[in-house]
Amino acid sequence: MPKVTVHRKAHFNAAHRLFRKEWSDEKNYAVFGKCSNPNYHGHNYNLTVSLTGEINKETGFVYDLGILRDLIKTEIEDAFDHKNLNIEVTEFKELNPTAENISIVIYDKLRQHLPIDLDLKITLYETARNFVSYSGE
Ligand code: NI
Repeated sequence: MPKVTVHRKAHFNAAHRLFRKEWSDEKNYAVFGKCSNPNYHGHNYNLTVSLTGEINKETGFVYDLGILRDLIKTEIEDAFDHKNLNIEVTEFKELNPTAENISIVIYDKLRQHLPIDLDLKITLYETARNFVSYSGE
C-alpha cells in the first residue's frame, strides 16, 4: 500500500527566555544571544504536524484533518498560545524552551493521542528562517 503524508499547520505566540540559571547574564548572552534577555521576549511560532501512513480504504483519508486540528488546538495551542513558556508551561520549568525542546514536547503531547501505525513529524518555525523538525528518534 502506498504511504501518504498529510500535514496540518498551526500557530501560537509565546514568550520565552533561554538561559542557564547557574551562568552569569554575560555568559547567557554569549551563548543564547537576544533570546537570553532576562525580561523575556516573544516569538510567533509556526507549527506543521505531519502524519504518514496508509490510506484508510473506507474513508480515503490517512487521518481526519479535522480531528488533528482539534487535537492541536487542545494539546498545543490552548497550552502554549500567549503564554510565558518558562513560567506557565510545566514542561519548561527545568527545560530550556529552545525550538528543539519545544518540538520534542509537542511531539510527546500529540503522539499519545494518535494511532500507533501513523508516523508523526513535528516541524516548528521560531522565525521565518530558523526551524527545527523532530520525528521521535
Ligand atoms: Ni527567543
